[in-house]
Amino acid sequence: MALKSYNNVAIPSFMYGTAWKKEATAHLVQLAITSGFTAIDTANQLVHYDEALVGAALRTLGKNGIERDQLFLQTKFTSVDGQDQRTPYDPSADLTTQVGQSFESSLSHLGTDYLDSYVLHAPFQRRGLGRADWEVWSAMEGLCESGKTRMIGISNVTAPQLAQLCEQAKLKPMVVQNRCYAVLGWDMEVREICEAHGIIYQGFSLLTANRQVLAEADVQAIAARLGIGPAQVIFRFAMQAGMLPLTGTTNVEHMREDLAAEQVSLTEAEVGRIETIALRE
Ligand SMILES: NC(=O)c1ccc[n+]([C@@H]2O[C@H](COP(=O)([O-])OP(=O)(O)OC[C@H]3O[C@@H](n4cnc5c(N)ncnc54)[C@H](OP(=O)(O)O)[C@@H]3O)[C@@H](O)[C@H]2O)c1
Repeated sequence: MALKSYNNVAIPSFMYGTAWKKEATAHLVQLAITSGFTAIDTANQLVHYDEALVGAALRTLGKNGIERDQLFLQTKFTSVDGQDQRTPYDPSADLTTQVGQSFESSLSHLGTDYLDSYVLHAPFQRRGLGRADWEVWSAMEGLCESGKTRMIGISNVTAPQLAQLCEQAKLKPMVVQNRCYAVLGWDMEVREICEAHGIIYQGFSLLTANRQVLAEADVQAIAARLGIGPAQVIFRFAMQAGMLPLTGTTNVEHMREDLAAEQVSLTEAEVGRIETIALRE
């Protein structure tokens, strides 16, 4: 089932993340797509991702009849601070140029002439938004207005930063991508802002950031009732709570299990219990 952004772009309800896959990236992207994922997340940042190998997988899949328009491609602009010496743009250029160069290099890596979603990997500062954030955001707005990307978004953003961006930007983000900790009410403050503005919230590290939650009695009881695993309970909870989850699995069985989470249903009471699972005394 697809979600819709406030500017009317459809986005699949589950996304395959390609961080930390290294040389296995191409193989795993092919496996993910042939297993049923249609949305892929990457970044033009060789420290954690290999966008060119995502592109290699897409080229192979293209030869086997999987067309570009059947897929949802999302990548990120990562500032110099998040890069190593393999910066995919001229690090001495002004930020607007850096965004333009990084974007063009992403298109070339992925073998496409447009993106579905382009995300600022992180604000430049921990608190508030500064001159650099606004310059980069304005360059990204330009890419969206010109149709080169259908959506823009921001990642690793705090609630006050997101509120400021929604208030002051010409184009507010269509997506937010954050690490989702159960101990923070599954990023409740940021999710509330997203809901108020019609922004799609993408949650990552739902499993790795919440290992203790998978062992909780409530999660185990839901898993037993539905005959599924605790990872599937968490992904299904995320969807029913209004999120778009990412999974980073490297295992084809887990890919199938994660996708199958869409086929089960938690009761409202179960969703409510997991919402507060790490907030109770
Ligand atoms: N914007 C950012 O700064 C940022 C930062 C981090 C991540 N991300 C994005 O989010 C994506 C996902 O992140 P993540 O890897 O932390 O996600 P994750 O899905 O929470 O973690 C993946 C881990 O969960 C396990 N797993 C997945 N499905 C499972 C299942 N059905 N049963 C048991 N174990 C299961 C995997 O093990 P197996 O491999 O054995 O299945 C792997 O160890 C990344 O690839 C990236 O695209 C973005």
